[in-house]
Amino acid sequence: MSKIALVTGGSRGIGAAISTALKAAGYTVAANYAGNDEAAAAFTAETGIKTYKWNVADYDASKAGIAQVEADLGPISVVVANAGITRDAPFHKMTPDQWKQVIDTNLTGVFNTVHPVWPGMRDRKFGRVVVISSINGQKGQFGQVNYAATKAGDLGIVKSLAQEGARFGITANAVCPGYIATEMVMAVPEKVRESIIAGIPAGRLGEPAEIARCVAFLVSDDAGFINGSTISANGAQFFV
Ligand code: CAA
Repeated sequence: MSKIALVTGGSRGIGAAISTALKAAGYTVAANYAGNDEAAAAFTAETGIKTYKWNVADYDASKAGIAQVEADLGPISVVVANAGITRDAPFHKMTPDQWKQVIDTNLTGVFNTVHPVWPGMRDRKFGRVVVISSINGQKGQFGQVNYAATKAGDLGIVKSLAQEGARFGITANAVCPGYIATEMVMAVPEKVRESIIAGIPAGRLGEPAEIARCVAFLVSDDAGFINGSTISANGAQFFV
């Protein structure tokens, strides 16, 4: 079985933690990134993990990037659709462009990432798909109509993929992180962030490594009968 893993948005934040956890678990990892060349180069220098630049919102670019990864490393057996952006605004102020950017990257980006690897997984009768959703796809969030729509959409994607992939030995699951100490959460206005942390019974933000460990479990052989599920890791902030 090939042990090649692709992590989108894999050079920073939660994605970087996932890439390094999968490397530690014995995978050869390709970390996709969209634009921050400096961060990607630093990540490769630090971890030895190869980075690949393409925009997940672009189907043709994703297909070409994935073909390059497979030419370099071999067939992808694990795909982690992690890349995501926020364009927060209350709905009455949200622009069509803010809506579209988030839908294109976070939701269509999952299609663009999984679709090119799916036929190979079916042919080889094995695959692991993990989509990084969010607590805010489960509960909604003031200022995130766009983002919450995509993260709720992720749950529909994995439940459907699970049913289509199961007889081919493919699992598709989601992880719903709560508020994790990343640049994305640090970008929230400080006062708002303080009130968010006050609402987390654990009394702290999560760590990227705590999400990475969920992913490492879901892609492992031990998780072969877990399919179409969601792991929530949010410090008891919300229960489905
Ligand atoms: N609930 C209820 N009311 C709220 C509110 C909330 N959560 N947040 C703001 N409001 C109210 C304000 O009190 C204010 O009311 P008044 O006009 O009566 O004073 C009104 O809404 C407008 O607020 P602002 O003036 O702050 O509006 P804004 O346009 O400047 O910004 C915002 C609003 C962009 C949504 C800002 O509040 C914000 O960034 N909120 C954080 C959203 C958030 O949690 N994002 C998560 C990012 S991390 C992530 O996405 C990762 C993940 O998966 C968890």
